[in-house]
Amino acid sequence: MTKKISLSSTSPMLKPSFLFGTATSSFQIEGDAEGRLECIWDVFCRQEGAIADKSDGLHACEHIKRWKEDVVLINSLGVDAYRLSLSWPRLMQKNGEINQQGLAFYTMLLDELNSLNIKPFVTLYHWDLPQYLEDEGGWLNRQTAYAFEHYVDKVTTALGDRVYSYATFNEPFCSAYLGYEIGVHAPGKVGRKKGRTAAHHILLAHGLGMQVLKKNVPTALNGIVLNFTPCYSATEKPEDIAAAERADEYINQWYMQPVMEGCYPDVINKLDDNDKPPIQPGDMDIICQPLDFLGVNFYTRLHYSAAKKTGELYFEHQHYPPKTDIGWEIHPPALTQLLLSLHQRYKLPPVYITENGAAMADVVVDGRVEDNDRIDYYQNHLLAVEEAMNLGVKVSGYFAWSLMDNFEWAEGYEKRFGIVYVDFNNQARILKDSAKAFKALLAQRK
Ligand code: NOJ
Repeated sequence: MTKKISLSSTSPMLKPSFLFGTATSSFQIEGDAEGRLECIWDVFCRQEGAIADKSDGLHACEHIKRWKEDVVLINSLGVDAYRLSLSWPRLMQKNGEINQQGLAFYTMLLDELNSLNIKPFVTLYHWDLPQYLEDEGGWLNRQTAYAFEHYVDKVTTALGDRVYSYATFNEPFCSAYLGYEIGVHAPGKVGRKKGRTAAHHILLAHGLGMQVLKKNVPTALNGIVLNFTPCYSATEKPEDIAAAERADEYINQWYMQPVMEGCYPDVINKLDDNDKPPIQPGDMDIICQPLDFLGVNFYTRLHYSAAKKTGELYFEHQHYPPKTDIGWEIHPPALTQLLLSLHQRYKLPPVYITENGAAMADVVVDGRVEDNDRIDYYQNHLLAVEEAMNLGVKVSGYFAWSLMDNFEWAEGYEKRFGIVYVDFNNQARILKDSAKAFKALLAQRK
């Protein structure tokens, strides 16, 4: 017997208007590196010690080759939507013109999804910056924001009305902070000023991209996907509570506030002049564009206390148990609280949970993956979303991360987030029990 995911028959999540989907991203699944320009992750993967299992994205899930069977798989789950990202280095040539082969691939894929009534939720930037732009400074260079604007213009014109929803960026925090401030993601740059600069240029690119989307595809659902890690105080001490609030501003509101309100949180404004983002007149107005939706990615929470060293803003604790295989605490109530706090603080557009899921140490036994721990994770997080909806937050959809096991960035292939298991020796796909549980839940709606 497969363990179930269940919602009550009156759950707002079972209404036909609520969309269920699964999600992936280009670099994590596509492979076929020859068919595109080099990107920052290709170069980063070659750096000694950058990727835990020394792997790369050259083959990944070979999705470019196997996209048709993957779409059959997606369809078999009974989902309403599929979230994917476009590879900028596959779609654009260095001269700023479209790569026709890349365009042909996405056109086929999107046409197939639409023919099956699966709504494509397309992210324009999920971390695979063309390397030639990094060679010019990447997100440290303001020009990259204008290159993104140009890419969005070309691609949305070429894809026409095939896309149900566009997100400009996926998790700008990860690109800016992990990539340019602490250097654990591509391109591996380090420094507070760099992190702040990259973040500002990405936010600027978001605003420029939103303006293009409104012009070129006004009927699509256009927005941005942000990741949130709720920040809890390790104790009731006022200095720890203040540290947790500072951390929240630094890692969460740093992106949310400029996008929604056109200003940075205080923690950014109060940084040394040297560390401040390079804001030019008019930037904040560009960044703050009306959104049709906000994508929320949620996995875990963190605990904080007052800084232990001068120059630090806070002290971040190791994750508390219980944890997933990637070491992140499992704490579903944080998702309800997050949604409520965003709802109270901001004037939110409809929210989609664009990513939620867990890495677990899956094993195949007799052709089956009994991932009951992942089913529990999904069950409890779906209930957490439902609770927020019942308390007044407008959530319109939920995407499980991920459709299938894939290249988990600096962790390589050993951390498995899929509801479909991928055997990387032969690329076989096996529905895990969690996929079967989703399928059964979604079938209930028919
Ligand atoms: C965030 C990212 O968007 C995705 O690419 C990643 O695989 C998951 N979270 C899990 O870490």
